[in-house]
Amino acid sequence: MKSFAGKMVYITGGSSGIGLEMGKLFSAGGADVLLLARNRDKLQEAARAVENSRLSPGQKIGTLSVDVADHVDVDRKMTAALERHGAPDILVNSAGINKYADHFENITHAMFDEVIKTNLYGTRNMISALLAAMKPRKGHIVILSSAAGLFGMFGYTSYGTSKAALLGFADSLRYELRPLGMKLTVVCPPEVDTPMNLDEARTLPAEGRAMKNLAGIMSPEYAAAAIVKAVAKGQYLCIPGPLTRFLYLMHRLSNGRLTRATSDATVWLARRKIGRTRS
Ligand SMILES: NC(=O)c1ccc[n+]([C@@H]2O[C@H](COP(=O)([O-])OP(=O)(O)OC[C@H]3O[C@@H](n4cnc5c(N)ncnc54)[C@H](OP(=O)(O)O)[C@@H]3O)[C@@H](O)[C@H]2O)c1
Repeated sequence: MKSFAGKMVYITGGSSGIGLEMGKLFSAGGADVLLLARNRDKLQEAARAVENSRLSPGQKIGTLSVDVADHVDVDRKMTAALERHGAPDILVNSAGINKYADHFENITHAMFDEVIKTNLYGTRNMISALLAAMKPRKGHIVILSSAAGLFGMFGYTSYGTSKAALLGFADSLRYELRPLGMKLTVVCPPEVDTPMNLDEARTLPAEGRAMKNLAGIMSPEYAAAAIVKAVAKGQYLCIPGPLTRFLYLMHRLSNGRLTRATSDATVWLARRKIGRTRS
């Protein structure tokens, strides 16, 4: 693994799932790590795990409670973080929610806002607060989008919108960062086995579940390892997992026709199954 010794890595969503696993890997690579999320108890527990992965006891592992969706909170906390921990060489934007995976008609304005404010504005807020400090270090920004940003999904009108918007945001920002010698990696994993899926399962329609099964599921350790490898290589687009990469290739080559036909058939079969269960 590439050495990250002497690097400072900020990770939003660092208390759980993919963000936490990335924290452990950067720590194992010798980096100082600052984990950011809202819940302080979860952050403390995560920090212990990240500390246990350290290469040397001199590495600093910190935590900071912040709500990425709230730009006032982000600006205030990042000013303090820069003073206390120094500017990040790597900023990983992994904070995200998928609470309202449901039929569009069931998604209220408030629900839609919450998803967009956390996933899209959350990333925007963090980068906006830290970009100036990262410039002199020629820093690297990582954005967690999703395979749901590459393909449409049944029940994903809020989450999928936030993740597709992040791809557009990343594509534009990359052009601004490149002349500054800064790197950007945007990540599109398929389903990853993390607590996020428990939230999603509460409302995800059966059709959505069936569509998600097409791309398979991976562990957060696998996803995190793929992302850290992409960061080490300075890769722009990271799609963890050969199956998702294959599906994306087919999607591009067929101009979406193949993906839509397969997904339409999957939805049709899922609905037939629901019909049979109900009758
Ligand atoms: N799991 C998947 O299937 C999957 C697939 C593709 C992409 N992704 C993306 O990967 C990223 C990580 O997902 P995950 O599966 O690791 O999720 P997770 O295990 O549920 O972790 C989400 C993290 O985000 C934090 N968070 C949520 N809202 C926040 C807010 N407003 N402010 C600050 N922190 C916040 C959570 O902590 P607090 O709640 O304490 O704040 C937690 O640390 C997300 O962006 C997700 O969309 C996930």
